[in-house]
Amino acid sequence: MGSLHLGLEAEDLDGATLALLPGDPGRVPRIAENFDRPRHLVSAREYVSWLGYVNDQAVLLGSTGIGGPSLSIAVEELAQIGIRTFLRVGTTGAIQPEMAPGEVVISTGAVRLDGASRHFAPIEFPAVADFGVVGALIESAVANGIAFHLGVTASSDTFYPGQARDGTFTGFLLPELRGSLETWRRLGVLSFEMEAATLFTMCSVMGLRAGAVCGVVVNRSEREDFDDAAVRVGEEGAIAVAVSAASLLTSI
Ligand code: URA
Repeated sequence: MGSLHLGLEAEDLDGATLALLPGDPGRVPRIAENFDRPRHLVSAREYVSWLGYVNDQAVLLGSTGIGGPSLSIAVEELAQIGIRTFLRVGTTGAIQPEMAPGEVVISTGAVRLDGASRHFAPIEFPAVADFGVVGALIESAVANGIAFHLGVTASSDTFYPGQARDGTFTGFLLPELRGSLETWRRLGVLSFEMEAATLFTMCSVMGLRAGAVCGVVVNRSEREDFDDAAVRVGEEGAIAVAVSAASLLTSI
């Protein structure tokens, strides 16, 4: 019997200490095809786990599901069986001008608009990425010729109100959330996604390393809607950067 939710055992990892973590279970096999000897391990709820090899070292490829609560379970259970470096491979909605779908965002830190990270550290504790992982992501983006943006991103528990989306079922936004997108834009925040703050906070306080690279799927300065094709383009850049970062991180 494996870990409670992921269904994995330490032996399944074949010594892997690095995990690439998309939110979407469907993205895992697509990431896996970039590795040597990819093989499916377990699928349980939103957690789909594969193993692949680079530089002859095993790398765990696994989905976290959407949002901090779901991701926190994956990180806890992976840490218990030996993962020490966690690399989120996600998608994100840009809020600064001149950011285009297909470009990627490398987070140096994340605004903690989530709830889960508060179960690991008080809100004053910063959600920051590991410098070594950030360096590997930058090097990989440059090597692959992929345009990237580096800076602070925001992680919200909700896709709709927390990211100040209008056009919802009721159209209602709490007063404290009205205008919040513009506030974050004025503060230089690059984009919204839903998991990095939980990941960074957890990993910092648990003595683990974390980073995040997310593909831009929409620029909300220009439009609100995006389709599957935009998601595909966004994912491709993030996957390419993450895969070559995995090669760098396993060769150190
Ligand atoms: N993921 C998010 O959380 N928000 C977006 O706008 C796009 C992807």
